[in-house]
Amino acid sequence: MFLFAMGLLLVILQPSTGQFPRVCANTQSLLRKECCPPWDGDGTPCGERSNRGTCQRILLSQAPLGPQFPFSGVDDREDWPSVFYNRTCRCRGNFMGFNCGECKFGFSGQNCTERRLRTRRNIFQLTISEKDKFLAYLNLAKNIPSKNYVIATGTYAQMNNGSNPMFRNINVYDLFVWMHYYASRDTLLGGSNVWRDIDFAHEAPGFLPWHRAFLLLWEREKRRGTSPEIQPLLTESEDYNNVSYQSHF
Ligand SMILES: *[C@@H]1O[C@H](CO)[C@@H](O)[C@H](O)[C@H]1NC(C)=O
Ligand SMILES: *[C@@H]1O[C@H](CO)[C@@H](O)[C@H](O)[C@H]1NC(C)=O
Ligand SMILES: *[C@@H]1O[C@H](CO)[C@@H](O)[C@H](O)[C@H]1NC(C)=O
Ligand SMILES: *[C@@H]1O[C@H](CO)[C@@H](O)[C@H](O)[C@H]1NC(C)=O
Repeated sequence: MFLFAMGLLLVILQPSTGQFPRVCANTQSLLRKECCPPWDGDGTPCGERSNRGTCQRILLSQAPLGPQFPFSGVDDREDWPSVFYNRTCRCRGNFMGFNCGECKFGFSGQNCTERRLRTRRNIFQLTISEKDKFLAYLNLAKNIPSKNYVIATGTYAQMNNGSNPMFRNINVYDLFVWMHYYASRDTLLGGSNVWRDIDFAHEAPGFLPWHRAFLLLWEREKRRGTSPEIQPLLTESEDYNNVSYQSHF
């Protein structure tokens, strides 16, 4: 489902992306601990009828925790996303996403079988108007609410284990600021106590793969979030896929 979260294993194993899929941010999903939304294409969970994927028990890493995290059962991010959901979509072939409605990175087409190459350009080689356009897109992302994702504004315990969902909308840009924060923030131990000696996104082997996946998701979600609004503003919408931000981040 979504990754936002922790280490590299989870990023790679979890078949989808983002913070909380909006369709699963409700009492019913939380109490059932299931996030297997229907795929629009056929209306079945995980696009099952179209052979895209199935709703399955999540797979968790059996690897021991590192010494930086001497706790168990205190942080919602442990064994992500099992605190919130223990059944999610597992997608087949080149499908991915929380409902198997998307293609793996690098693929496109109805059945996600066509290779799709996108080129990131060096920002120093963009023309002034290309740079302006790029910044305009960033600005738009900051002003458009994410359609598919919401963020959690409380812990699972604060949500009374699901019976009191605490989520809110977020714009496409801030969604990713939030995911980055959520993955790397301190562990909250209750009250004002925090455990600072942990950073799931940076101080471990997950650093590079986590950020690579993060950027791929960012590019994708921003394209999706902005494209309908952008079409009238820009004729060469495809250029957007070919703009580099490498030196901005
Ligand atoms: C998954 O979560 C549900 C709801 O809390 C629970 O009833 C079920 O036992 C859990 N399944 C496993 C295998 O932990
Ligand atoms: C996609 O797969 C379906 C079902 O296997 C098939 O009917 C359809 O022709 C395929 N479409 C393309 C564009 O390959
Ligand atoms: C991206 O831009 C470069 C340089 O302008 C161009 O050569 C390349 O074909 C473009 N790639 C795509 C996928 O549009
Ligand atoms: C939430 O679940 C935990 C573990 O199952 C339990 O100890 C706790 O009492 C539950 N809290 C509420 C508010 O239901």
